Amino acid sequence: MNTKNIVIFASGSGSNAENIAKYFKNSTCVKIKAIFCNKTDAYVLQRAKNMNIDSFLFNKEDFYNSEKVLNKLREIKPDLIVLAGFLWLIPKNIINEFTNRIINIHPALLPKYGGKGMYGDNVHKAVFENKESKTGITIHFVNEKYDDGDIIFQAETLIDDKDTPESIAEKVHKLEYKFYTKIIEKLLNL
Ligand code: GAR
Repeated sequence: MNTKNIVIFASGSGSNAENIAKYFKNSTCVKIKAIFCNKTDAYVLQRAKNMNIDSFLFNKEDFYNSEKVLNKLREIKPDLIVLAGFLWLIPKNIINEFTNRIINIHPALLPKYGGKGMYGDNVHKAVFENKESKTGITIHFVNEKYDDGDIIFQAETLIDDKDTPESIAEKVHKLEYKFYTKIIEKLLNL
């Protein structure tokens, strides 16, 4: 079987990126080829280094006004591009070339709590303040808008009176770590 190549995009801590990389570490079918990152001080870069995974750092100009990132992707030829806490919109040139091969994980039950500014802890704070009785994760295809592409998978977790934004975040992270790898495998037909 041909090895399937994955590129991960991340902007922050990178705990999902690390979870995915560890999951496929000894796989003969899947290789994490690189972690693409748009922030020089993102902790995900350290994680990439620790795991011996190449990282590729780019800025706004590279991403939106050049073909630098697209060309790097053309070189790697990923079967799947996995966004894991990546906070910039993906430009048209990349979406067009990798249609239905870019996925994102969002830490809420879309279409609720999506859109610009709704990321990471902002989402959990909003869910907490609105006294929601449940939250969860959404894995979806990526298009040119925030959190808007077709939904592939959702999983829920209940919120009770004792929960705080921090404990909600923890519950959601658990779901992310449990399911993102499984959905990746499914999309790669493994
Ligand atoms: C994750 O919870 C992910 O779902 C979220 O950012 C966090 C990144 O954590 N993504 C978004 O909010 C995208 N809109 P990590 O860097 O530790 O993986």
